[in-house]
Amino acid sequence: MHIMKIAFVGHGYVGLVTAAVFADFGNEVFVIGHTKKKVEDLKRGIIPFYEPGLSELVKKNIEAKRLNFTLDYTPSVPESDAVFIAVGTPATLTGDADLSTVLEVAQEIGKNLEGYTVVATKSTVPTGTNKKVQKILEEAKPRGAEVDYASVPEFLREGSAISDTMNPDRVVIGTESARAQEVLIKLHEPIGAPILLTNFETAELIKYASNSFLALKISYANAIAKLSELVGADALKVLEGLGMDKRIGNMFLAPGPGYGGSCFPKDVKALISIAKDNDYAFSLLEEVENINHQARRDIVRKARKILGDVRGKKIGIFGLAFKPNTDDMRYAPSIDIITMLTNDGAKITAFDPKAHNNAKDVLSNIAYADDMYSVSDDADLLILLTEWNEFREINFNEIKKRMKALNIIDGRNIYDPEQLRALGFNYVGVGR
Ligand SMILES: NC(=O)c1ccc[n+]([C@@H]2O[C@H](COP(=O)([O-])OP(=O)(O)OC[C@H]3O[C@@H](n4cnc5c(N)ncnc54)[C@H](O)[C@@H]3O)[C@@H](O)[C@H]2O)c1
Repeated sequence: MHIMKIAFVGHGYVGLVTAAVFADFGNEVFVIGHTKKKVEDLKRGIIPFYEPGLSELVKKNIEAKRLNFTLDYTPSVPESDAVFIAVGTPATLTGDADLSTVLEVAQEIGKNLEGYTVVATKSTVPTGTNKKVQKILEEAKPRGAEVDYASVPEFLREGSAISDTMNPDRVVIGTESARAQEVLIKLHEPIGAPILLTNFETAELIKYASNSFLALKISYANAIAKLSELVGADALKVLEGLGMDKRIGNMFLAPGPGYGGSCFPKDVKALISIAKDNDYAFSLLEEVENINHQARRDIVRKARKILGDVRGKKIGIFGLAFKPNTDDMRYAPSIDIITMLTNDGAKITAFDPKAHNNAKDVLSNIAYADDMYSVSDDADLLILLTEWNEFREINFNEIKKRMKALNIIDGRNIYDPEQLRALGFNYVGVGR
């Protein structure tokens, strides 16, 4: 095992999780932040977002003195063998990835380099970014410092980020320097995953191609669900049959309100934009986006069909986060669906086990319940949008006593339609 000194700039889902995991492997890790309050909190083990197991892993490695938080690029950068850029790359209005923070951070890293350092981007960045970052590093570095650049895209999923980082399907290392390759291979050795060595552009494109393909699978499942409803087929069985084919695989084939989160929507947009910049119209992905919007509208259409006019009707929402086990609300389907319903005059009460604080920033005109049962008080309709485990175990006899009318839209198909119908509910799923 090779113990190294490494640094991460950015302490979001990617930066903090990978930093904590590499510290847990025995490396000495610096995490460079940019706001005093967050860095002070992190030093005490207080994490700004919810990710299962992360708080324990961070505290353990702070105590072992392997994980250090700082606002300063020195001595963290000059002492490190490798420095990872893990800041956000949100979509701009045109759909391109906003690289301003990546480039700003590269400048700071460059100025503080000393000896030989590998600088690697973990943030998802469009093809060609490597050239910009490399130029900044070369121009900013002090005389005598040596730097090689690599693109090491990250594939972790929020909600299972630690185990994804410890057991990834592959590690992609994109660099043209054999020396940088050697450092990064040694660093990733304890993970034991297959390592794919590529050039910069290939590594950058692998990340966008993977996320866009997963988004495509979700939209495909939603299109099949729509068609199943029209022809009277059971989409879940159709997709189960499809997924049993090893060439297709059964993951990411669940119909529902569409994909959301901080990655798929922006990465699909960015890949469309990268293609456009290179005179290729990636219209397949434009349709993936259309189907995704349609999936959200379909939930609202079902609510209108059940309730007639939704104005003044009370609708309870189970789940707000874009998926279970996270408090992340970025591009959550719940935002679009609830906004369409409140625009129609519906009164919304929602419950999510973790996401209320983040949801309040984007959904201010709805009520938040203290527990999942009170969502159903007096409700004309319940809509399940995020499949948290607690919603799977809910007692529908209790819900039944509280609701005004027994209507439910199961946006994630987690309930048994027959059981609910036997209890007197009007059950509507997606594609069933
Ligand atoms: N979240 C995921 O599931 C995931 C998975 C794979 C890849 N990615 C990619 O990784 C990148 C980071 O994503 P994330 O979800 O961790 O983002 P995030 O928004 O959770 O974190 C970004 C971090 O950057 C910090 N930051 C911003 N400006 C800074 C500056 N000037 N100096 C230092 N830190 C600064 C923020 O404080 C925050 O901690 C993105 O490009 C994303 O597409 C994300």
